[in-house]
Amino acid sequence: MRRYKLLLLVLTVISFTSLHAQDPVIEKKVNALLKQMTLEEKIGQLNQYTGRIFTGPQSTEKTNLQTEIKNGWVGSMLNVKGARSTREVQELAMQTRLKIPLLFGLDVIHGYETIFPIPLAEAASWDMDAIKRSAQVAAAEAAANGIHWTFAPMVDIARDPRWGRIMEGAGEDPYLGSLIAIARVKGFQGEHLGDTLSIMACAKHFAAYGAAIAGRDYNAVDMSDVELWQTYLPPFKAAADAGVGTFMNSFNTLNGIPATGNDYLQRTILKRKWNFKGFVVSDWNSVGEMLKWGYASDSADAAIKALTAGSDMDMEGRIYRRKLVQLVKEKKINIALVDDAVKRILYKKFELGLFDDPFRFSDEAREKTITSDPQHRQIARDVARKSIVLLKNNDQLLPLAPSDKTIAIIGPAAKAKRDMAGSWTVNTDSTTFISLYEGLASRMSSDKLLYAKGGTVQHSTGEEINEAVAVATKADVIILAVGETWDMSGESKSRADLRLPGDQEKLFTALQQTGKPIIVVIMAGRPLVFNNIADKAHAILYTWWLGSEAGNSICDVLFGNYNPSAKLPATFPRSVGQIPLYYNHTITGRPYNTQKSKQYLSVYIDEENTPRYAFGYGLSYTTFEYSDLKLSKTSITNNDSIIVTFKLSNTGIYTGEEVAQLYLRDEVASIVRPVKELKDFAKVQLVPGETKEIRFVIAKEKLSFYNKELQWVTEPGKFQLMIGTASDNIKLHSSFELVNGK
Ligand code: GLC
Repeated sequence: MRRYKLLLLVLTVISFTSLHAQDPVIEKKVNALLKQMTLEEKIGQLNQYTGRIFTGPQSTEKTNLQTEIKNGWVGSMLNVKGARSTREVQELAMQTRLKIPLLFGLDVIHGYETIFPIPLAEAASWDMDAIKRSAQVAAAEAAANGIHWTFAPMVDIARDPRWGRIMEGAGEDPYLGSLIAIARVKGFQGEHLGDTLSIMACAKHFAAYGAAIAGRDYNAVDMSDVELWQTYLPPFKAAADAGVGTFMNSFNTLNGIPATGNDYLQRTILKRKWNFKGFVVSDWNSVGEMLKWGYASDSADAAIKALTAGSDMDMEGRIYRRKLVQLVKEKKINIALVDDAVKRILYKKFELGLFDDPFRFSDEAREKTITSDPQHRQIARDVARKSIVLLKNNDQLLPLAPSDKTIAIIGPAAKAKRDMAGSWTVNTDSTTFISLYEGLASRMSSDKLLYAKGGTVQHSTGEEINEAVAVATKADVIILAVGETWDMSGESKSRADLRLPGDQEKLFTALQQTGKPIIVVIMAGRPLVFNNIADKAHAILYTWWLGSEAGNSICDVLFGNYNPSAKLPATFPRSVGQIPLYYNHTITGRPYNTQKSKQYLSVYIDEENTPRYAFGYGLSYTTFEYSDLKLSKTSITNNDSIIVTFKLSNTGIYTGEEVAQLYLRDEVASIVRPVKELKDFAKVQLVPGETKEIRFVIAKEKLSFYNKELQWVTEPGKFQLMIGTASDNIKLHSSFELVNGK
């Protein structure tokens, strides 16, 4: 028995280290180069400046970038894009003594030239292939434009839609978020770094940035270590295991320590426990912001704390550039820390092939062919259709038959293009985007398509509303396009009021009073509150911001060319007062369900406990039936597994895809467990009348959790098993026991 265990241990160590194994040939080159470098040249590698596009507060310090680069003081540039520009800047780096190439980084968050749906929209597709394809196209276009490295995927779990950056991530669930993190890392990086169709990825923002107190961006984060490990770390671990090349830290403090100076996060967890071999870039001047936080007494103190805690590269902070040489000379910081950071960065530059050919990503001919590939628009349209959530469809108003009906397309979002790009596209040309109006006009004769703007997102005058009503009365059906403008969600865009901005609800009410059937299309970067519309509209599509092919993809759904299949990756509250509101909550000691009296129960006296729309919710034009649930066992040990099968049937008249979701509840444990947790799902296409058997496997991993000692454990006891079409719409129920024993 001992020999078997020893073998198992050896195999485990090999598999773990191979997960993060370094190439000995590259390591040798890195060490040889490091030996040649002066202290100043080493510090230069840890310094990153922005180009002329600012994605953060502009530094007051005037820097001669050309001189800095030529003198070897720069390891990376962000926000320099294009084959020509990157070549020109790289030429400067080739004038340095050791000709160490620059790394060019950019926020390629959901597309480069061809813009895809915002990440939260893509998350609603629950389609890992589609999400991976989106990242692949983005990587190919960015790589063709001289970019080596994207600051994506953003994998921050977010349970608070007041936080504008919820748009950049994958929503509230660790399981879904982890799968999406893997899909995006693999999509961006391809099978291995160095292919000029892929770029290095960056898991950000490490960590727990989405839990900013009060949903206010850049605010403090305070949570138990159990919550950190159970909810916020899993997508980062998934990204690390998927081979992500870099991490980016975050602006927030975690339990009083800024992430940038947090050695628990960056050293204990990331570099030691997870054995991460890539490098950590700070967020924009997050090193310098430790002075603002009152965590560093001056820049030298900030440099020491950041580098000691594991922040390898200083983005736009100029702190490492200004302070590290002196600090090393005064022996206030160990040169070994500098060497470790430099080696991590040089390793990636070798891996990307930049020492072989510093200009291999800066090829103008390739830039033209790849960036203008029409196939990319088709892929964007396909991913966009899969991201659209059908929230309501009374009397099967949708899909619209392309008949002789007159349609009034009304609202400030009807002709919106720039908004479809969201806030994270670095000066993309949105004039080539397809608006909803253009999508409709391309399918309908002009005399059957009426239009009125009805005001702007921010404001509608009485006469604009009256004009819209007048147009609407001439139509058979109204499509009202409302939402947010691109600068209302995203970084530093927290909102304390989540209702539709301006007078858009008023515009809806006026149109609704015409008595015409009304389809509301909501284009926004986050979950919003729109109860009146939710109650009175005939149909509602939540289309988020869908990018270049927004109009065509929305029309594909409106007219039934694509049957909507998306499911919400984040909870939609009834009111902002319910936040944070998420499906995998604990039950309390005084749970309210549907009791008559709410006295002495965990409730609001002025609001429901339930969300407006739950995590995992989304309708289809067809209907699905769940039946015949079977478990291979109802009692298992840690070394066992249960095969769960059930039948899924399409009982409607349209071919459609259903996301069947598996939730588990650990009824009793040494730490209170949620009422349910997503543990698996299957996205299945069925033609009308078709039935398929769906199969899930439940084993130890799906029953494990972090106990109060932060051990990843299972505990014997009863588990509830739930299979549903949404977290609040369970179709099949069962239970099983986990028992001790082998
Ligand atoms: C910004 C963002 C980060 C981005 C970086 C570079 O402040 O927080 O997500 O990647 O700066 O633009």
